[in-house]
Amino acid sequence: MVSVYIIGGSGYTGGELLRILERHRGVEEIRVSSRQYVGKRVNTVHRGIEGELTFEKYDKRVAEGCDFVFVCTPHTKAMEYVAELSTRIIDLSADFRLREVKTYEAVYRKAHTAPELLREAVYGLPEIHRKEIKRARIVANPGCFATGAILALWPLVRKYDIKEVIIDAKTGVSGAGREPNEKTHFPWANENVIPYLPVGHRHIAEMEQELGIKVFFTPHMVPMSRGIETTVHALMNTEVEDVKKAYEEAYGDEPFVDVVDWVPTVLEARGSNYCKIGGFSQEEGRLVLFSVIDNLIKGASGQAVQNMNIMWGFKEDEGLQQLPLAP
Ligand SMILES: NC(=O)c1ccc[n+]([C@@H]2O[C@H](COP(=O)([O-])OP(=O)(O)OC[C@H]3O[C@@H](n4cnc5c(N)ncnc54)[C@H](OP(=O)(O)O)[C@@H]3O)[C@@H](O)[C@H]2O)c1
Repeated sequence: MVSVYIIGGSGYTGGELLRILERHRGVEEIRVSSRQYVGKRVNTVHRGIEGELTFEKYDKRVAEGCDFVFVCTPHTKAMEYVAELSTRIIDLSADFRLREVKTYEAVYRKAHTAPELLREAVYGLPEIHRKEIKRARIVANPGCFATGAILALWPLVRKYDIKEVIIDAKTGVSGAGREPNEKTHFPWANENVIPYLPVGHRHIAEMEQELGIKVFFTPHMVPMSRGIETTVHALMNTEVEDVKKAYEEAYGDEPFVDVVDWVPTVLEARGSNYCKIGGFSQEEGRLVLFSVIDNLIKGASGQAVQNMNIMWGFKEDEGLQQLPLAP
């Protein structure tokens, strides 16, 4: 049995972690910190959570005494917590995802205050780094867009000599976090499709780091609460059946990646830790394929629990058996 501490637990990923961990049979104690809601019951913020759990003021000694700490704060803040703790950590922010300090500082426009830990941290995508995750003390949980894109491309870049891809992704509004802003305000987000960053999204750096190819990426926000649909265009000629076979071989034993015979849609992943990949199609000079995930689960808190399960030696799907909520 393990004890866990969640830092920044009043946000969306914190709420999702609580939902999953409450049902995890290996978790005996959960502590959760917030700055705004100290002393308030967790379900005053996360309405669906049962019980008496209360937000507390962050206390380094208490966090240090837990077996796992999940850091759910914004990037550039998370590194301060990670640097002062010596327990096992799963950081959901971007602060330890990039191996090169120069790349981090160029992308996030802030000096990294714990660069010595960048090499120690393991990129927490189990399908690629399971062995290293098992031995890791610090796991950098991947970005939500990066999870959808890397899983959609990993078998392709392993088998074929491709140098670049074009990725177009649609995300639900919860990808922007709990704090409302002009773009996420209902009258603007509803019935709208917002291509919110034509070029230069920060997750490109982790996609390129993990895939080793050039990535052209444009994300859009669409009026749904959660979910990411990723469309990959690779300018190449190949047999679709060979591509599909490569994916089935790569992911055949994976508990949370399904290669499907159709074009997957976001509802086929919603509420679950699954990534569905399919829709392999070829026209002259272009291969196209699709992946779907739930940004808050496989794209964040579900993957974080999957990583904890690997690090501790729990069954990898413990706490994560929820099937997709479709429709
Ligand atoms: N949303 C997603 O789909 C998603 C997916 C993958 C990764 N992530 C990453 O996961 C992290 C959390 O995301 P989220 O969506 O849960 O964000 P969120 O909803 O905005 O929640 C973040 C929480 O962090 C706390 N916080 C804010 N600034 C802080 C600071 N300076 N020091 C300590 N705590 C602070 C806040 O709680 P209090 O004010 O109550 O302390 C807030 O509720 C981010 O780094 C995000 O990029 C998010």
